[in-house]
Amino acid sequence: MGKPKALVTRPLFPAARAILDECFDAEYWTSAERIPRAELLRRVADKEALVCLLTEKVDEELLAAAPKLRIVATMSVGYDNIDVPACTRRKIVATHTPGVLDETTADFAWTLLMAIARRLVEGDAWVRAGTWPGWDLDQLLGGDVWGKTLGIIGFGRIGRGVARRAQGFRMRVLYHDAVRAPRDVESEFHAEFAERDRLLAESDFVSLHVPLLPETRHLIGKEALEKMKRTAYLINTSRGPVVDEAALARALEEKKIAGAALDVYEREPEVHPALLARKDVILAPHIASATVETRTNMAVMAARNAAALFQGRRPPNALNADALGL
Ligand code: DGY
Repeated sequence: MGKPKALVTRPLFPAARAILDECFDAEYWTSAERIPRAELLRRVADKEALVCLLTEKVDEELLAAAPKLRIVATMSVGYDNIDVPACTRRKIVATHTPGVLDETTADFAWTLLMAIARRLVEGDAWVRAGTWPGWDLDQLLGGDVWGKTLGIIGFGRIGRGVARRAQGFRMRVLYHDAVRAPRDVESEFHAEFAERDRLLAESDFVSLHVPLLPETRHLIGKEALEKMKRTAYLINTSRGPVVDEAALARALEEKKIAGAALDVYEREPEVHPALLARKDVILAPHIASATVETRTNMAVMAARNAAALFQGRRPPNALNADALGL
């Protein structure tokens, strides 16, 4: 009997390919362009496994086009690209890659936080333009980071990683989450639970670490932005639609907050045009987990998830394992 067939929507990395090639007759999408939707639907038709990225939408249409599919393994911790209930209805396992990117993403939230507070990107552009006249007293004055209040919305693994790093900066840490963390976790991270409005009102930096769910869509909109300090900065490394970009652009224009640093957008790769022109915004291209080590680990994890099912094991990071009785 031949190996099961898998479609892999990127060439991934050698370590992940080795796992996939051992287990599957794997077909890789190798073009530099992202796989077009029609091509994805056509190629997945005879596959039993799909290893994909967050850019591939796994919805009813795709599942209907893939009658042999038994597992969808996304190489991301966020899985808003997958209709998990639809997978469950069709007895298809859905997996993601939790844990391996937490520290790297927390590092990047801090990269953005420091860069927006200290106006690093503006400074870099000035020096490169050749118009910087040399040191002066009041050039590019930013805001202090050390000793300030950091508000973390979403206190899961990544949010906690961001909190841990704040200790080195002697910051006060507030957090908000749908579920309050146990007291020992709060004391381990020196973090104080706060209702969302208090967090917004007291924080000098608000960093977002929630998954995209119906209840987190536009969590930060006009009303939330108006509660923030005029001197505060917003950092988003979670999912774009958690922030209402139009409301953010208006709040910045009206100087309701001091600045924002974003890694994710409502309609990637598009960015709200009013944000593109602003100097008080840093725009990163969704790279919070983009280190060689972490992306390799994520690819290996996705490959192991897909392979496990066909090796008779429960995929370690299955989202619907209980619903499927695995
Ligand atoms: C994820 O994994 O969800 C990130 O957005 C990309 O690493």
